[in-house]
Amino acid sequence: MSVAKPLPHDAARLHVTGAARYVDDIPTPRDTLHLAFGLSPVAAGSLDAMDLDAVKQAPGVIRVLTAADLPHGGDTSPSNHDEPLLATGNVHYAGQPLFLVIATSHLAARHAARLASIDITETEAILSIEKAIAADARFEDGPRIYAKGDAQAALQSAPNRLQGRIHIGGQEHFYLEGQAALALPQDNGDMLVHSSTQHPTEIQHKVAEAIGRPMHAVRVETRRMGGGFGGKESQGNALAMACAIGAMLTGRPCKMRYDRDDDMVITGKRHDFRIDYDVGFDDTGRIAGLDVTHYTRCGWSMDLSLPVADRAMLHADNAYHLSDISITSHRLRTNMASATAFRGFGGPQGIVGIERIIDHVAQHLQADPLSVRRVNYYADNAASPPTGAPIDNRPLPADTDADLASRGAPPAPGGPIPTPTGDAQTTPYHQPVTDCIINALTDKLAQTSDYAQRRSAIADWNAAQPVLKRGIALTPVKFGISFTLTHLNQAGALVHVYQDGSIHLNHGGTEMGQGLFQKVAQVAASRFGVSPELVRITATDTAKVPNTSATAASSGSDLNGMATQNACDEIRRRIAEHLAERYQTNPDQVSFADGMVRIGAEEITFARAVASAYENRVSLSATGFYKTPDIEWDRIQGRGRPFFYFAYGAAVTEVVIDTLTGENRILRCDILHDAGASLNPALDIGQIEGGYVQGAGWLTTEELVWDDKGVLRTHAPSTYKIPACSDRPDMFNVALWEAPNRVETIYRSKAVGEPPLMHGISALMALSDAAAACGPHYPDLQAPATAEALLAAIGRARDGV
Ligand code: MTE
Ligand code: MOS
Repeated sequence: MSVAKPLPHDAARLHVTGAARYVDDIPTPRDTLHLAFGLSPVAAGSLDAMDLDAVKQAPGVIRVLTAADLPHGGDTSPSNHDEPLLATGNVHYAGQPLFLVIATSHLAARHAARLASIDITETEAILSIEKAIAADARFEDGPRIYAKGDAQAALQSAPNRLQGRIHIGGQEHFYLEGQAALALPQDNGDMLVHSSTQHPTEIQHKVAEAIGRPMHAVRVETRRMGGGFGGKESQGNALAMACAIGAMLTGRPCKMRYDRDDDMVITGKRHDFRIDYDVGFDDTGRIAGLDVTHYTRCGWSMDLSLPVADRAMLHADNAYHLSDISITSHRLRTNMASATAFRGFGGPQGIVGIERIIDHVAQHLQADPLSVRRVNYYADNAASPPTGAPIDNRPLPADTDADLASRGAPPAPGGPIPTPTGDAQTTPYHQPVTDCIINALTDKLAQTSDYAQRRSAIADWNAAQPVLKRGIALTPVKFGISFTLTHLNQAGALVHVYQDGSIHLNHGGTEMGQGLFQKVAQVAASRFGVSPELVRITATDTAKVPNTSATAASSGSDLNGMATQNACDEIRRRIAEHLAERYQTNPDQVSFADGMVRIGAEEITFARAVASAYENRVSLSATGFYKTPDIEWDRIQGRGRPFFYFAYGAAVTEVVIDTLTGENRILRCDILHDAGASLNPALDIGQIEGGYVQGAGWLTTEELVWDDKGVLRTHAPSTYKIPACSDRPDMFNVALWEAPNRVETIYRSKAVGEPPLMHGISALMALSDAAAACGPHYPDLQAPATAEALLAAIGRARDGV
């Protein structure tokens, strides 16, 4: 069966040969026009006048549009209608699009966009979290608070108590393919849009609004993105709308792609956070009470900030069972590009908060941080089932039981599984944790990575070394899977089987490099019992599958895999019924495997079975649908079951730092990650490696710097340091904890897109450990842990200030 095979990415060959087609590679008609935005040079003020004569007269310019020229207005916001495509009246950040140039070439448009003379009366910009708090500049009326138990009482009576604060920087997505769109006018004013987007339906909706037509007049196609990482959930709206408006007004195809610097300046990034905490704990480090406050820098418009800030709160516990906890979240409005989705969607920031607290507690007690982690873990209650045993009482998808069971043998779990009592084991948002494996997983990783032995070797080494210091840390991840906006947890698929037995597969998910298309094709191939080469994966298309959710929240394969299974099984049922009639037997005597269809004792090829069905006028096309069961959530009260299940994992990172310069390197990383019964172990390991490197980059070298005018100074790879190949750990051991998901997901797999990013937190904690080796005090390392931040932390470790 094709599911579970470590097949390469379906476009791997195209990627590495440069033949994969992205939006900018699509051949365009000769009369195609090219677009560029003119940008605000200042962060806040009133837009008094724009003199665009020089822009209009520049070579190649066809038209120049301001907000007043947009025939149907234009709002790019995915949430709040607070984000005009072109500024109206006021400007809100340096880099905000003010006007749109339509020209005969990309360069002509960009050159012309710089020739405007703009009058803005500047007002004081709110740039920092501190200033936003002082100005009470926020989204929603006040802070949101989720609570369980009585944090204050627990803090009062705890034997030990600490307060602290960490600033966590944002992150630029740095997808290799920048934002891009192409709009081609069709008959009757309809519009075909190619967009590099994680959310074709949102593009369709926004373009329809922008050209004043119903959604049926707009078709959006996305074959692939050269990376999205959350940065293409909403940030592609502006380009697609601009292209469609341009195409409508000129009758010519319009294309827009941001130059890299513009892309970094215009589009939103990961939210930076300040997290304040007050923690009470006993002498083993067991946390008794915790009061934690998130300050989230959202930028100028709402975008996706509310659910991002919610998800940060929903991960304030990470893998720790906290009985008395209060989480307060401030969503702050600032004059910067509006922060947006980024792999983990706030979860990583929430988890950094609690990992930092554990690190602080451990240092205070002079204990191994791993022992403090362990005493706080949720209890394991998802025993990895013994081989052959059913996982729960719900049926597995047909034809897969034997296969699953054969792969279900878990890595040796350590000892009996404790059973939690009553509601003892709930998250701060009152969801029971019923699938925990973090203790057994940690035991296994600590053993395979030689954690204890290396920790003591590092202590010896540090005692002997005056300049270089090493550090090590093991951090866990527990990540909730599902969109917290419950209705988004749905998906559709469209499957055609052609007369020759080849299969055309379409679903609502988008491909951004994560391997979703390959995984879903493997599902389709498995349902029909054919080889995956028979399955043609086609571009995501709003005309084939409508009303889709963004490919986000890591749920692409969970949702689209199930919808595809549903469609395939419908066709399979029809073929089986036809063959049963023809061979005078029951449909349950018909099975699909190895390219053959067995009907009782008879056997014919899949192609022959399909041809027979066709000749007997059986429909060989079906749609499929899926919605995640059992979830319900009240985001205002902070109560319910937002997540269908949790994905777990843990990482151990070892680092070395130079205490004279703050320079540092990751020496080794070991990861054990829970992808359930993996749909494709090769792709999953790729996601884990990439996620780790991206997460470690966020917390170490990637620093966004805005000047005191709110202008982003790090808007190119020359100044913004993403990890290079050479920053990959020299020793990098990644393994899958391959036990089937307890809940009924597609072939019992688990979502894997975002959770591994949080393994990068082990790099930050290892650096904190190394800095702590420099002196008696808590180093209070801030993120990102650049060389400068480390040097400051080393100073604090030595001097206590
Ligand atoms: N992997 C690659 N190569 N490129 C990407 O853009 N995006 C990540 C993750 N892995 C991304 C990636 C993010 S933010 C998400 S939500 C998931 O993939 C989305 O895909 P999935 O739901 O199919 O896992
Ligand atoms: Mo991912 S941040 O959910 O696109």
